[in-house]
Amino acid sequence: MRFSSNIKLYVLLLIVGIFLLLGYVYFSFFTERLNRTTQSGRTLFCFSRRTDVVAVTPWLAPIIWEGTYDPVLVDNIYKPMNLTIATTVFAVGKYVSFLRDFLETAEKHFMVGFNVRYYVFTDRPHDVPSVNLTQGRHISVIQVPGSNRWQEISARRMEIIQTTIESQISRVADYIFCLDVDSKFHARWGAESLGRLVAVIHPGYYEQTRDHFPYERHPASMAYIPMDEGDYYYGGAMIGGFVEDVYTLTKICRNRFEVDAENSIEAAWQEESHLNRYLLYNKPSKVLSPEYLWQDFKAKTKEVKVIRFSGVIKNYAEVRPNV
Ligand SMILES: *[C@@H]1O[C@H](CO)[C@@H](O)[C@H](O)[C@H]1NC(C)=O
Ligand SMILES: *[C@@H]1O[C@H](CO)[C@@H](O)[C@H](O)[C@H]1NC(C)=O
Repeated sequence: MRFSSNIKLYVLLLIVGIFLLLGYVYFSFFTERLNRTTQSGRTLFCFSRRTDVVAVTPWLAPIIWEGTYDPVLVDNIYKPMNLTIATTVFAVGKYVSFLRDFLETAEKHFMVGFNVRYYVFTDRPHDVPSVNLTQGRHISVIQVPGSNRWQEISARRMEIIQTTIESQISRVADYIFCLDVDSKFHARWGAESLGRLVAVIHPGYYEQTRDHFPYERHPASMAYIPMDEGDYYYGGAMIGGFVEDVYTLTKICRNRFEVDAENSIEAAWQEESHLNRYLLYNKPSKVLSPEYLWQDFKAKTKEVKVIRFSGVIKNYAEVRPNV
């Protein structure tokens, strides 16, 4: 009686022991697999680990922030394509004085290693500084009429870009960036910015909700955006993308601008208002964070790890024909 109950106890202990052993083996195998998965997960996602910023739009276009992409990988993809990037700037009137810094800093930071063709629009071609350009980079100076109002200079930009794309740029360039001249580059602006249609989030409004965006709010204007619509407030200081897509954008914005002018309407922020309206219904395929359009007078915020391009502080009374 006593003997057989002892045997039962031993058998029971043995069975429990075997289960414990199996459990241990299974558990250690499983945790090892789990470790391996998290490790490869870490490698895969190490460039999108920014949790303080949103790196994709609701229509799944990337928003380019430092730390969300691998610049070496990006260069390895785009450099062998031997792309040519057209870059337009307007240096009308006293704005010609910003050209040297713009060009010199672009040579250091903007699309380094790519073919770049600068198109400088100015009414003072003799005041365009001579800047040493690296191989594969050229500058064309195109004379445009001066103007007595900066709003008008701003208005005609779309038209001038459109006609220059038609007459010259479409033959030589793959991509185009239209930039403001009163700015400097401070850090890499590279192939991560290339896309079909590229816009930049205005640094003054990236932390705001859309009811604060300074869109054109008069329904009579062709730039009108209702209060309950709008994705971002895009900066007018940068338009980019495939030459063909930017051509369509400038053509449509120019037409709308002219319709407004015929009705004696000037949109709140001129071409920037028309740009925002266009981009609301033609979503950009890539959105650049305010790293790509900062303003020198604005203190750096914690989300902005790198300032790549920034508007210089200027005395409007000194450079604009009217304030
Ligand atoms: C790269 O593009 C430039 C400009 O379009 C051209 O002059 C050059 O021949 C091209 N190089 C190669 C290797 O295709
Ligand atoms: C431009 O390059 C030439 C030749 O390399 C050099 O002599 C000249 O000083 C450079 N000019 C400027 C403004 O850097």
